[in-house]
Amino acid sequence: MDNNDDRNNYTDRLKAINEPLLVWYAAHARELPWRSEPAPYRVWISEIMLQQTRVEAVRSYFDRFMRALPDVAALAAVDDDRLMKLWEGLGYYSRARNLKKAAQRVMETYGGVIPSEPEELLTLPGIGDYTAGAIASIAFGRAVPAVDGNVLRVISRLLASRGDITKATTKKQITQFLSETMPRSRCGDFTQALFEVGALICVPNGAPKCGECPLRSLCLAADQELTAEIPVKTAAKPRRVEERTVCIFERGGEVALRRRPPEGLLASLYELPNAEGKLEPDEVIAAFGLTSGTVLEIEPLPAAKHIFSHVEWRMIGYRLRLNGDFPTGCIAADKEKLDTTYALPNAFAAYKRFIC
Ligand code: ADE
Ligand code: SF4
Repeated sequence: MDNNDDRNNYTDRLKAINEPLLVWYAAHARELPWRSEPAPYRVWISEIMLQQTRVEAVRSYFDRFMRALPDVAALAAVDDDRLMKLWEGLGYYSRARNLKKAAQRVMETYGGVIPSEPEELLTLPGIGDYTAGAIASIAFGRAVPAVDGNVLRVISRLLASRGDITKATTKKQITQFLSETMPRSRCGDFTQALFEVGALICVPNGAPKCGECPLRSLCLAADQELTAEIPVKTAAKPRRVEERTVCIFERGGEVALRRRPPEGLLASLYELPNAEGKLEPDEVIAAFGLTSGTVLEIEPLPAAKHIFSHVEWRMIGYRLRLNGDFPTGCIAADKEKLDTTYALPNAFAAYKRFIC
């Protein structure tokens, strides 16, 4: 934005999207459990789950979570391992830990009632500008924008703006514009309509479906054939690659699990014992302090990889049948406990299916 004329052009164009967007949303909104019943607790939980996770993946987790922990008090009191089991497979487990911390704060500070003021929401663990805006607008009808990657993409294209959407200043400016122009009623519908256009029409991968877009007649990037160039986004740093060897240690119907350290990647979650590097069978036996006499059988498993936000694991695996103790630091879990009690992150999914 260079001057006042540009600013006025931008805000006029943004004001013009309100009506067509709301009309389109009324006809095209997906039916989602947190939409039919947008109580603050439900909106909060859904928005945290939806960070970095697709709507379709969230659906089943959301309903189960609500049945298990139906209110702030239940979440504040939940046992950590049970919480992790409810979150198992969703990834970014610190989101769940922050939910519990925030619920405890809501119990202590707000008598169990989720606050409606964005400034108060922002003081809760795990709630940043985006989530505060989503809760304030969807659950409380406040005219506070919620700007995520979808919204940045749609609005940059609408305005044919070349501001880098990975920069905080770009996000701040779009948030400021929307806070001035978004409608003063049906604020929650407006917020979700923008998400919906970003998810279904002005899609993140591949060409946008401009022919079906309620904003087409207002969109400068479509007019100027700039949708391949906008949004401008500086490339993320390449991920660090780590090689690992993952082991299924079995003995008498039980399998060895290990708890991860309390800090860092997948903090405090359970894992299949694993070691750095791609190890040969004899190296595996040595790395876990076993002797070949206690290993009845060692069978290689297929290679797999798992992508985290900053790291990529390239894994090989072995299944080892033991007749002695599990390696030190491991616990023994039977199949039932694995299904009901211990949360094993998705990074191990490729090997979990070989547990018999
Ligand atoms: N992505 C983030 N929040 C969402 C919501 N409320 N509905 C659909 N997609 C979303
Ligand atoms: Fe995105 Fe095309 Fe709609 Fe513009 S017209 S907002 S580029 S889908």
